[in-house]
Amino acid sequence: MSGASFRIGVLISGSGSNLQALIDGVKSGFIPAEIALVISNKADAYGLTRAREAGIETRVVDHKTFEGRSPFEHELIRALDDAGVELVCLAGFMRVLTPLFVRHYLGRLINIHPSLLPAFAGLHVQQRAIDAGVRFSGCTVHFVEEEVDAGPIIAQAVVPVLPSDRAEDLAKRILTQEHRLYPWAVKLFVEGRTQVKERVVHIQPAQWGAEQALIGPTPD
Ligand code: GRF
Repeated sequence: MSGASFRIGVLISGSGSNLQALIDGVKSGFIPAEIALVISNKADAYGLTRAREAGIETRVVDHKTFEGRSPFEHELIRALDDAGVELVCLAGFMRVLTPLFVRHYLGRLINIHPSLLPAFAGLHVQQRAIDAGVRFSGCTVHFVEEEVDAGPIIAQAVVPVLPSDRAEDLAKRILTQEHRLYPWAVKLFVEGRTQVKERVVHIQPAQWGAEQALIGPTPD
Protein backbone atom coordinates (compact mmCIF):
# COMPACT_ATOMS: atom_id res chain seq x y z
CA MET A 1 0.00 0.00 0.00
CA SER A 2 1.75 3.19 -1.07
CA GLY A 3 1.65 6.21 1.18
CA ALA A 4 0.75 4.15 4.26
CA SER A 5 2.46 5.75 7.20
CA PHE A 6 4.28 4.14 10.09
CA ARG A 7 1.82 3.43 12.89
CA ILE A 8 2.56 3.97 16.57
CA GLY A 9 0.57 2.83 19.60
CA VAL A 10 0.99 4.57 22.96
CA LEU A 11 0.14 3.11 26.37
CA ILE A 12 -0.56 5.54 29.21
CA SER A 13 -1.96 5.61 32.74
CA GLY A 14 -1.93 9.27 33.67
CA SER A 15 -1.29 12.84 32.64
CA GLY A 16 0.19 11.95 29.29
CA SER A 17 2.59 14.85 28.97
CA ASN A 18 5.01 12.56 27.12
CA LEU A 19 2.15 11.45 24.90
CA GLN A 20 1.57 15.15 24.19
CA ALA A 21 5.22 15.54 23.20
CA LEU A 22 4.81 12.64 20.78
CA ILE A 23 1.56 14.09 19.41
CA ASP A 24 3.31 17.42 18.84
CA GLY A 25 6.31 15.66 17.27
CA VAL A 26 4.06 13.87 14.80
CA LYS A 27 2.03 16.99 14.08
CA SER A 28 5.09 19.08 13.27
CA GLY A 29 6.48 16.38 10.98
CA PHE A 30 9.52 15.74 13.21
CA ILE A 31 8.37 12.12 13.68
CA PRO A 32 7.40 10.68 10.26
CA ALA A 33 4.57 8.53 11.58
CA GLU A 34 1.06 8.62 12.92
CA ILE A 35 -0.23 7.71 16.35
CA ALA A 36 -2.85 5.10 15.46
CA LEU A 37 -4.06 4.27 18.94
CA VAL A 38 -3.72 5.41 22.55
CA ILE A 39 -4.65 2.91 25.25
CA SER A 40 -5.04 3.72 28.93
CA ASN A 41 -5.60 1.25 31.74
CA LYS A 42 -7.34 4.09 33.60
CA ALA A 43 -10.55 5.66 32.33
CA ASP A 44 -9.79 9.02 33.97
CA ALA A 45 -6.26 9.44 32.57
CA TYR A 46 -5.89 12.99 31.28
CA GLY A 47 -3.80 11.67 28.43
CA LEU A 48 -7.01 10.27 26.90
CA THR A 49 -8.33 13.83 26.61
CA ARG A 50 -5.10 14.91 24.93
CA ALA A 51 -5.42 12.06 22.43
CA ARG A 52 -9.09 12.76 21.68
CA GLU A 53 -8.34 16.45 21.18
CA ALA A 54 -5.72 15.43 18.63
CA GLY A 55 -8.26 13.21 16.85
CA ILE A 56 -6.49 9.99 17.83
CA GLU A 57 -8.41 6.78 18.46
CA THR A 58 -8.46 5.84 22.15
CA ARG A 59 -9.27 2.73 24.13
CA VAL A 60 -9.59 2.08 27.85
CA VAL A 61 -8.42 -1.39 28.82
CA ASP A 62 -8.88 -1.48 32.58
CA HIS A 63 -6.69 -4.14 34.18
CA LYS A 64 -9.13 -4.39 37.09
CA THR A 65 -11.80 -5.86 34.83
CA PHE A 66 -9.59 -8.84 33.88
CA GLU A 67 -8.81 -11.93 35.90
CA GLY A 68 -5.03 -11.79 35.94
CA ARG A 69 -2.34 -10.22 33.80
CA SER A 70 -2.51 -12.60 30.90
CA PRO A 71 -6.09 -11.84 29.72
CA PHE A 72 -5.38 -8.12 30.23
CA GLU A 73 -2.28 -8.28 28.07
CA HIS A 74 -4.03 -10.40 25.41
CA GLU A 75 -6.60 -7.62 25.12
CA LEU A 76 -3.86 -4.98 24.79
CA ILE A 77 -2.16 -7.04 22.09
CA ARG A 78 -5.42 -7.54 20.22
CA ALA A 79 -6.19 -3.82 20.21
CA LEU A 80 -2.66 -2.82 19.16
CA ASP A 81 -2.40 -5.46 16.44
CA ASP A 82 -5.88 -4.64 15.12
CA ALA A 83 -4.69 -1.04 14.79
CA GLY A 84 -1.68 -2.21 12.77
CA VAL A 85 0.79 -0.75 15.23
CA GLU A 86 4.50 -1.22 14.38
CA LEU A 87 5.95 0.46 17.47
CA VAL A 88 4.53 0.50 20.99
CA CYS A 89 5.56 3.41 23.23
CA LEU A 90 5.07 3.21 26.97
CA ALA A 91 4.48 6.72 28.27
CA GLY A 92 3.81 6.65 31.98
CA PHE A 93 2.08 3.26 31.74
CA MET A 94 2.01 2.07 35.33
CA ARG A 95 1.55 -1.67 34.85
CA VAL A 96 4.47 -4.07 34.72
CA LEU A 97 4.21 -6.06 31.49
CA THR A 98 4.88 -9.78 31.58
CA PRO A 99 6.97 -11.80 29.08
CA LEU A 100 3.75 -12.53 27.18
CA PHE A 101 3.45 -8.90 26.08
CA VAL A 102 7.16 -8.11 25.99
CA ARG A 103 8.02 -11.05 23.72
CA HIS A 104 5.18 -10.23 21.34
CA TYR A 105 6.62 -6.75 20.73
CA LEU A 106 10.31 -7.44 21.36
CA GLY A 107 12.43 -4.92 19.47
CA ARG A 108 9.46 -2.64 18.85
CA LEU A 109 8.48 -1.78 22.41
CA ILE A 110 10.09 1.24 24.07
CA ASN A 111 9.78 3.09 27.36
CA ILE A 112 10.85 6.36 28.94
CA HIS A 113 12.20 6.27 32.46
CA PRO A 114 13.10 9.31 34.62
CA SER A 115 16.66 8.34 35.55
CA LEU A 116 19.96 7.63 33.86
CA LEU A 117 19.59 3.85 33.60
CA PRO A 118 20.97 1.50 34.75
CA ALA A 119 21.05 3.77 37.81
CA PHE A 120 17.77 4.03 39.68
CA ALA A 121 15.52 1.53 38.00
CA GLY A 122 12.10 1.10 39.56
CA LEU A 123 10.03 3.61 41.53
CA HIS A 124 10.63 6.85 43.50
CA VAL A 125 13.70 7.42 41.40
CA GLN A 126 14.00 11.18 41.93
CA GLN A 127 14.04 10.87 45.72
CA ARG A 128 16.50 8.01 45.47
CA ALA A 129 18.79 10.10 43.25
CA ILE A 130 18.66 12.97 45.78
CA ASP A 131 19.31 10.59 48.69
CA ALA A 132 22.28 9.08 46.86
CA GLY A 133 23.80 12.54 46.45
CA VAL A 134 24.39 12.17 42.71
CA ARG A 135 25.19 15.47 40.95
CA PHE A 136 23.33 14.55 37.78
CA SER A 137 20.28 12.56 36.85
CA GLY A 138 18.11 12.57 33.76
CA CYS A 139 15.99 10.33 31.61
CA THR A 140 16.40 7.32 29.39
CA VAL A 141 14.50 5.92 26.42
CA HIS A 142 15.15 2.21 26.08
CA PHE A 143 13.88 -0.93 24.46
CA VAL A 144 11.75 -2.95 26.87
CA GLU A 145 12.92 -6.39 27.84
CA GLU A 146 11.61 -8.82 30.37
CA GLU A 147 13.59 -7.35 33.24
CA VAL A 148 12.01 -4.03 34.31
CA ASP A 149 13.89 -0.84 33.25
CA ALA A 150 16.79 -2.86 31.86
CA GLY A 151 16.62 -2.98 28.05
CA PRO A 152 19.07 -1.55 25.49
CA ILE A 153 19.38 2.24 25.73
CA ILE A 154 18.39 4.37 22.73
CA ALA A 155 18.96 7.88 24.10
CA GLN A 156 19.50 9.77 27.33
CA ALA A 157 19.31 13.35 28.60
CA VAL A 158 21.18 14.64 31.64
CA VAL A 159 20.09 17.29 34.14
CA PRO A 160 21.79 18.59 37.30
CA VAL A 161 20.53 17.63 40.75
CA LEU A 162 20.56 20.85 42.79
CA PRO A 163 21.22 20.95 46.55
CA SER A 164 17.84 22.59 47.10
CA ASP A 165 15.93 20.00 45.07
CA ARG A 166 12.91 18.23 46.44
CA ALA A 167 11.83 15.17 44.49
CA GLU A 168 9.15 17.16 42.68
CA ASP A 169 11.65 19.84 41.58
CA LEU A 170 13.94 17.22 40.10
CA ALA A 171 11.00 15.38 38.53
CA LYS A 172 9.91 18.59 36.80
CA ARG A 173 13.40 19.31 35.50
CA ILE A 174 13.70 15.78 34.17
CA LEU A 175 10.20 15.83 32.65
CA THR A 176 11.09 18.93 30.61
CA GLN A 177 13.90 16.92 29.04
CA GLU A 178 11.71 13.83 28.62
CA HIS A 179 9.54 15.91 26.30
CA ARG A 180 12.56 16.56 24.08
CA LEU A 181 14.06 13.12 24.36
CA TYR A 182 11.07 10.88 23.67
CA PRO A 183 10.12 12.37 20.28
CA TRP A 184 13.78 12.23 19.25
CA ALA A 185 14.16 8.57 20.22
CA VAL A 186 10.90 7.66 18.48
CA LYS A 187 12.05 9.48 15.36
CA LEU A 188 15.29 7.46 15.38
CA PHE A 189 13.34 4.21 15.55
CA VAL A 190 10.76 5.19 12.94
CA GLU A 191 13.51 6.24 10.53
CA GLY A 192 15.15 2.83 10.94
CA ARG A 193 18.27 4.34 12.50
CA THR A 194 18.44 2.06 15.56
CA GLN A 195 20.17 -1.28 15.41
CA VAL A 196 20.66 -3.49 18.48
CA LYS A 197 23.84 -5.59 18.60
CA GLU A 198 24.70 -7.49 21.76
CA ARG A 199 22.35 -5.29 23.80
CA VAL A 200 23.92 -2.06 22.58
CA VAL A 201 21.86 0.24 20.37
CA HIS A 202 23.79 1.65 17.43
CA ILE A 203 22.36 4.82 15.89
CA GLN A 204 23.02 5.87 12.33
CA PRO A 205 23.58 8.49 11.25
CA ALA A 206 24.19 10.25 14.54
CA GLN A 207 26.22 13.10 15.96
CA TRP A 208 27.99 12.85 19.27
CA GLY A 209 29.23 15.94 21.07
CA ALA A 210 32.52 14.43 22.16
CA GLU A 211 33.51 17.67 23.87
CA GLN A 212 30.31 17.83 25.93
CA ALA A 213 30.89 17.55 29.64
CA LEU A 214 29.01 18.72 32.71
CA ILE A 215 30.71 19.22 36.03
CA GLY A 216 28.66 19.67 39.16
CA PRO A 217 29.08 21.90 41.03
CA THR A 218 30.28 24.11 38.19
CA PRO A 219 33.98 25.02 38.71
CA ASP A 220 34.68 28.58 39.91
C1 GRF B 1 7.33 10.22 33.30
O1 GRF B 1 8.18 10.72 34.29
C2 GRF B 1 7.95 8.98 32.69
O2 GRF B 1 9.32 9.01 32.65
C3 GRF B 1 7.48 7.91 33.64
O3 GRF B 1 6.17 8.28 33.98
C4 GRF B 1 6.02 9.69 33.85
C5 GRF B 1 4.87 9.92 32.92
O4 GRF B 1 4.48 11.25 32.84
N1 GRF B 1 7.59 6.62 33.02
P1 GRF B 1 3.40 11.68 31.73
O5 GRF B 1 2.15 10.83 31.97
O6 GRF B 1 3.98 11.43 30.39
O7 GRF B 1 3.13 13.13 32.01
